[in-house]
Amino acid sequence: MSKTKTSAEAAISSAPTDEASIREIIDKCKRETRIEYHYGDGFFKPRMRGINHLELGRSKIISSPITILIEWLYVQWKRVRDFFGDLGKRLFPREGRVWCDRVDSHLAGQTIFAGDRGDGAPIHHLHLEFWGRTWLGHWRKFGETKTDKEGYFRLPFDLRQARRLWVRRVYFEIQTTTRVYFHEGKPRFHFDVWRRVELPKGDLIGMDYNLRTIRLDFWRYREGAYTPRAKVNASGDEPEHYSQGRIDALMEQVIPIELTKIKHLDQIELDPGSLTIPEIQADYPMNLTTCIEKHLPGYTRGDEWFGERMMNGMNRGTFQPDAKKKGHYWIHYFGRCWYESNDVYALPDVDILFKLKKNGLPEPVEIHLTGKLNSHEHDPWKKRVYTPKDEPDWTYAKRVARVNGAFNTEVEEHFAGTHLNSEQFAVACYRNLKLNPVAALLMPHLKEVSLIDHAADKTLIGGYIAAATALTKEGLEQRTRDIMGMQDWKGWKPMTPISKAHSCAKAEALFWDVVGGYVDRFVEDWKDEIQKHWFEIYCFSEDLVNHAVPVAFTAPQDAPPKGAKWKALADRRFEYYCQQYSFDPTLERPVVNGERKAISRITAAKSFHEAGKEDWQNLKDACRYAIMMATYMHTWINEHQYDDLGEILYSCGGLRYGEKPEGIMAPESDYGIAPDLERSTQMLWFTNLLSRTEYGFITRNEEGDVNPHFAELLEAKREEFKSLGVDIDAIESRTNI
Ligand SMILES: [Fe+2]
Repeated sequence: MSKTKTSAEAAISSAPTDEASIREIIDKCKRETRIEYHYGDGFFKPRMRGINHLELGRSKIISSPITILIEWLYVQWKRVRDFFGDLGKRLFPREGRVWCDRVDSHLAGQTIFAGDRGDGAPIHHLHLEFWGRTWLGHWRKFGETKTDKEGYFRLPFDLRQARRLWVRRVYFEIQTTTRVYFHEGKPRFHFDVWRRVELPKGDLIGMDYNLRTIRLDFWRYREGAYTPRAKVNASGDEPEHYSQGRIDALMEQVIPIELTKIKHLDQIELDPGSLTIPEIQADYPMNLTTCIEKHLPGYTRGDEWFGERMMNGMNRGTFQPDAKKKGHYWIHYFGRCWYESNDVYALPDVDILFKLKKNGLPEPVEIHLTGKLNSHEHDPWKKRVYTPKDEPDWTYAKRVARVNGAFNTEVEEHFAGTHLNSEQFAVACYRNLKLNPVAALLMPHLKEVSLIDHAADKTLIGGYIAAATALTKEGLEQRTRDIMGMQDWKGWKPMTPISKAHSCAKAEALFWDVVGGYVDRFVEDWKDEIQKHWFEIYCFSEDLVNHAVPVAFTAPQDAPPKGAKWKALADRRFEYYCQQYSFDPTLERPVVNGERKAISRITAAKSFHEAGKEDWQNLKDACRYAIMMATYMHTWINEHQYDDLGEILYSCGGLRYGEKPEGIMAPESDYGIAPDLERSTQMLWFTNLLSRTEYGFITRNEEGDVNPHFAELLEAKREEFKSLGVDIDAIESRTNI
């Protein structure tokens, strides 16, 4: 076994060893590697075509000066077109006046959700308008209405107005809420045309014009998806669109790292021997661990840093008290379990025992690894225990634990716990909340998540993670579904701090209080309107429950393989996840088509006067939870990714078994177990992309859609958050990266 030590593993005697000096260096590195958000623009700079053009390989980047010039001309043409478009809107405004002297006719019909197998449910409360355009281009509104609870409508209009000689064409428009913004503390909804249908003017002859049943691809659930997802396709029929600011910010930030990745990929293709992992590392911006290593060589591989980051780093570990030893806690990271996996990457189960030190930070005392550690082993249940006395294996085991922790955090907590979890609320929200003010409470925090999740299907779950870790795409999808089976708003609480140094848990609790205060006040302020439109809350709740996944491992298709050992592993995972995701297994849960659903029902009543006594509180709790997941919980992992996953040899998505008998129990200098060159540059590209291209923050409120009261409540706690290491200006208002 190689005993070669890298510079990182070697202690340098000249480095400071006292706690105050070390803390000073760490704080300095946090400041130096902190990500700033400056957005700008420039001509003859490389450009990208959009978020959906991001690729794991070579994104569609425009770098040749001629192409940039053509693109510039195209942009100018678009500007001229937009100018005339705006001019047209100013010259021919669509005014609110309704041209109607006497209602003598109606447009009638029903709107329903399109479905693959037969018709979907009715679409309630859609805003409908009937417009005409004169030969001179003027717009005239003839009438408007909303669909009723069953999706039916009768839009009244004056037949003579619509049939006037100077009216050239008539249009039936289906509109939907695309944006919420706050003006003088009050929510305003912005409607956009979802579908415009030209009606043959000559057919308007009788009392009613029957449009019959209109099937709409409106916020449709994707059939066959593992978890509740919006149907998004590439033909431009997305249920929503990114804001221009979001697209610009991402493009601006991603270009430099995209160029670095392309340079590496070209080099790997032409002459792989000319590139090394340290060279790849050096081409990307410095991250927290590489910065600390510069000043304190070996420190980030030591026990102190390991404990600190497991508690307060990206992973925000879940500490389960040891049943026998007081002051001792376990963190469990589960390995490949029974999911479909490959034979390239290792992913053993990792159990880490910590002892709390006097300063409240955890010190690792034992690491248990269960499963294959090299390519020659076959026993998935073989367990090995390491302690600090077992150097150098102890150092290797810590790396294995870091890597498994990063995998679990990214796949389970980040993607399933925040992205997919927020998306299930987003789809239910956009489908159902139209008149109810709860739309204004939720939409600013749930927008764009369905789009970024769609992009992640290709680049992350079906791309990088499937190629750089032990699990296949199929395995990853099943795993995220199981984790979704542990997500419920009911009874959710933030993590309980286990010591004075547990700043991550304290900050989480503080933010939970802020969201609670904000939601309570909003719901009470808009009580009458919310109760008046309770039917929409009922539909929101029904969609959430009916499309939710079953509780983890309970449905036949999600069950572990047969056998006592698999059952014991499933039980252990379930018990741990209950703490990790604050899931109460004793709650009575809705059963739909024989499946016990993970999400609790908010209300079973279609009107408020029939609602149960808990329903009002349920609504507050569900909204509070959805906002918490889409904002703070996502931000925590997303913005710490580059800190804890920004150094290839420190941590990554998966260590390869390599060819040697010691497998992954080897030093960092063994590049045979590290990610290969392609995966290395892709990893740094990804973590940079995800941490650096954030856009949409609560306090910045770039698009005016965050309720100012929310930002005020947060501002009032600025110093308290700061003392816990959290900058409130970096907390995202939504999950969109
Ligand atoms: Fe994310």
